[in-house]
Amino acid sequence: MNKLTVYADQPLSKINRHLYGHFAEHLGACIYDGIYVGEDSRIPNVRGMRSDIVEAMKQIRAPNLRWPGGCFADVYHWRDGIGPREQRPTRLNFWGNAPETNAFGTHEFMDLCEQIGCEPYIGGNVGSGTVQEMRDWIEYLTSNYDSTLSNERRANGRAQAWRIPFWGIGNENWGCGGLMRPEYMADLYCQYHNFMRNYGDTPMMRIASGLGGSDTNAEDTAIFMDRIMNRRHPVHTDGLSIHYYVYLPDQPRHSATEFGEAEWYEVLKLASDIDGVIAKNAAVLDTYDPGKRIWLIVDEWGAWYPVEPGTNPAFLYQQNSMRDAVVAALTLHIFQDHCDRVQMANLAQTVNVIQALFLTKGEALVYTPTFHVFDMLKGHQDATALRYDLIAPVIDVNSVPLAQISAGASRAENGEVLVTLANLHASESTALEIEFTDRAVTEITGVELSADHFTAHNTFDEPTRVTPKRFDGVVIQDGSHVRVQLPAASVVALTLV
Ligand code: AHR
Repeated sequence: MNKLTVYADQPLSKINRHLYGHFAEHLGACIYDGIYVGEDSRIPNVRGMRSDIVEAMKQIRAPNLRWPGGCFADVYHWRDGIGPREQRPTRLNFWGNAPETNAFGTHEFMDLCEQIGCEPYIGGNVGSGTVQEMRDWIEYLTSNYDSTLSNERRANGRAQAWRIPFWGIGNENWGCGGLMRPEYMADLYCQYHNFMRNYGDTPMMRIASGLGGSDTNAEDTAIFMDRIMNRRHPVHTDGLSIHYYVYLPDQPRHSATEFGEAEWYEVLKLASDIDGVIAKNAAVLDTYDPGKRIWLIVDEWGAWYPVEPGTNPAFLYQQNSMRDAVVAALTLHIFQDHCDRVQMANLAQTVNVIQALFLTKGEALVYTPTFHVFDMLKGHQDATALRYDLIAPVIDVNSVPLAQISAGASRAENGEVLVTLANLHASESTALEIEFTDRAVTEITGVELSADHFTAHNTFDEPTRVTPKRFDGVVIQDGSHVRVQLPAASVVALTLV
């Protein structure tokens, strides 16, 4: 019998709400036509931000938003995006040379974060910018002093300094961010770190752009850490970012919506491999930082398929199916399993790009299956992770084992226990017994996300094909045992009050 034992009396670390973070880049239709439609649009908006998206981000309690990129961050010069819009320059975007009008800049991003109620995470330009440029941006945003830069911000309409808790120093420095060796990036990191001063009263986390997802990136992490810490004037970092994609854009058989069981399992296996990448990087950090002060941050993750036929290949527009819902639940559960070290993560990306929460077409908005997973799992944010043991069948994926069930368990401050589950089997429902070691279960409610087929997805013609519904497959047995029947290819959330 498959069995999940939840040790509700064995609290582990707190699940930082920032694990449920997001990422919006100036790429394709993510910002323009996605989040920002402009004040004169007929689409309901507040100062240009789509109201339906802002409301939906509030609904999932989006804790943070990373901006402006991505690769775009390393070609972005913040002065292009301040002041009267009609005077802002048009540049060619990194992505497909699309005209970048800079209509959405620093003040618009901060307005968006305030409308959503989330923390800003700004990625500074290291690849083609300067230390001075980054330093000035920080002063412009966060200083209440009587300085020329602070006064420029005031003249541009913002009297009070903003709080920016998260600053990224570059992006994918090993790739689009500048093709750097870790040794070089480490030296550069120290230089930026030294000049990035705190002008406000909000502690500013300086986050080193780390490495892409592969088995070897932990070696580069070790070189980087060694180089910043073992020097005459050791430098610390508050966070180190890694990226991990299920990266299949060049493989037509891994279409976002037309795939078979083999592709379903291969994608889920690749998604599960993030566990090893995190473990290796966490082990490196443990040697330099046994107190676990440094945040390991996965500030880009998601399943990346060939673009939707007929769309601009540089715009990375793809559909999002029930498979992506399971990828999301599996990945978020893995983050929670490492929540003593992984403190922040950012889904790539919010709207119309890669594994999006939303797809837009004019006024129409589609909530993807991935959005629903963020909604169903939001109760884990800032809750305490609970120890669990899981006995589950194993699926053979090209001779490599993949656990059929993925789980997460937490207890919120009000005592509510949330257990979330994903059934990775494409076509078979599965039974699971759950034991709660310390409590009698008197009331349990559930929500499920499942569909008539594992490729099911939401379209503009059929926007609610994949949508959460009440879960009826849970039965309380004796006091501390419940039995659930998980539908095939599903995500289920159970709440015990
Ligand atoms: O999310 C799309 C791109 O993927 C980002 O700009 C870059 O950081 C990564 O390679």
